[in-house]
Amino acid sequence: MKILPPAARGSSAISYAGLLEKIEILRSTLRWASTLARPEIEKLLRQANALRDEALQLSHKERFVQAAAAEAAPVDLAPGARRRALLDRSFVFEGAFGDNPQLLEALEIAEKAAPTDLPVLIDGESGTGKELMAKVIHANGSRPDKPYISVNCGAIPENLLESELFGHRKGAFTGAVSDRKGKFESAHTGTIFLDEIGELPLSGQVKLLRVLESHEIQRVGSDEPIAVDTRIVAATNRNLRRLSVDGTFREDLFYRLSVIHLTLPPLRERRDEIPLLFAFFGDEAAETLKRRPIKMAPRLREFLLRYAYPGNIRELRNLIYRISCLAGDTADLEHLPPDIRPASGVPAVVNPASAVETAASASLGDAKRAASDEAEKMFLERGLEEVGGTVAELARRCDMNRSHLQTLLKKHGIRSKDFRKQNSSRSEDQR
Ligand SMILES: Nc1ncnc2c1ncn2[C@@H]1O[C@H](COP(=O)(O)OP(=O)(O)O)[C@@H](O)[C@H]1O
Ligand SMILES: [Mg+2]
Repeated sequence: MKILPPAARGSSAISYAGLLEKIEILRSTLRWASTLARPEIEKLLRQANALRDEALQLSHKERFVQAAAAEAAPVDLAPGARRRALLDRSFVFEGAFGDNPQLLEALEIAEKAAPTDLPVLIDGESGTGKELMAKVIHANGSRPDKPYISVNCGAIPENLLESELFGHRKGAFTGAVSDRKGKFESAHTGTIFLDEIGELPLSGQVKLLRVLESHEIQRVGSDEPIAVDTRIVAATNRNLRRLSVDGTFREDLFYRLSVIHLTLPPLRERRDEIPLLFAFFGDEAAETLKRRPIKMAPRLREFLLRYAYPGNIRELRNLIYRISCLAGDTADLEHLPPDIRPASGVPAVVNPASAVETAASASLGDAKRAASDEAEKMFLERGLEEVGGTVAELARRCDMNRSHLQTLLKKHGIRSKDFRKQNSSRSEDQR
């Protein structure tokens, strides 16, 4: 079984090199020192201890990877068999549905990682099931009956972050009217899920790193360290490695959090499962709403099979719940939300302004992403129209790599051949 994606495997090497460099700095400090005062010795000792901790983390990771690699790879099993094998081993799915190989691989890694208490980093686009995966890890771990505490790092104002995570003493700041426990203390003995970790400001990253290193927290306004024993699962829809290269996310924190790294596939990479997901969520919605499962009019079904689902499984699930709630026996296009409802049976081009409007109730980040997604889609559709559906020509005009362009078209569910016939005469003129 492939335990880590190739990029993550590279990370071990980078981190290993970083560690060697730090050891070299320590060695040369010692080599060239003629005398050392006690405080300096203490300082060097602390550095040596930190290095030992890092080396232990690395060796953990290496042992884990070796153990996993030594096992027979289950990838040649049929998808259903891989799922059944997990079930036979009493794996708790927490409702995670699907036979997509990347999803199953994530579940299999989760199965191995869950009992170890190693930190897990989950990445994937919004709505791909990161939080669900965190619950899966908690449920299959050694602490399933202990607290599971979820924190959205992107939703806490920077000035309240420390108090939210670590708690505060009465009178520590205006408004601190009584002592208060933070999320880490609440998660003691259990699991803390740090969602949207990529949004954590640098000041918060430093504090988090300190907790990961010392396994202690201090409430704001108190000097007293409190030991916390918490399993950390973090999630992000950003590329943390890139953020750490750009300097907006601490590299050392990235390595600390990503001892086990899982990536969840976007729905567009598991489109063949969309009909199964209709049935799955259709039944679930029927049960919740205490009604018969909905039937879909063929043109609605056609639309939903072709739709791009920028919000991934969350969006698909919400759509099925919506139509199950609004429709009588059979759902049709009119039961779709107005912003995605097509005039005919063909997916509509939504303009970016409406994407922003519909996302107004969501976060700014979501609104930006929705608008940029829509702009990208419009750009591609107009471009294809101009070149009469010839992908190679569009790639040339936009100075874009052709396979990247293909990926983008796939992401938006755009088929270049749809632009061929009706526009071929125009594109001929332009050539
Ligand atoms: N594989 C899956 N099977 C069933 N439901 C899923 C799956 N992945 C996600 N979901 C559902 O989709 C919704 C969004 O999932 P969530 O874990 O909150 O996504 P994320 O944290 O990545 O934004 C939730 O209702 C979740 O239960
Ligand atoms: Mg989430």
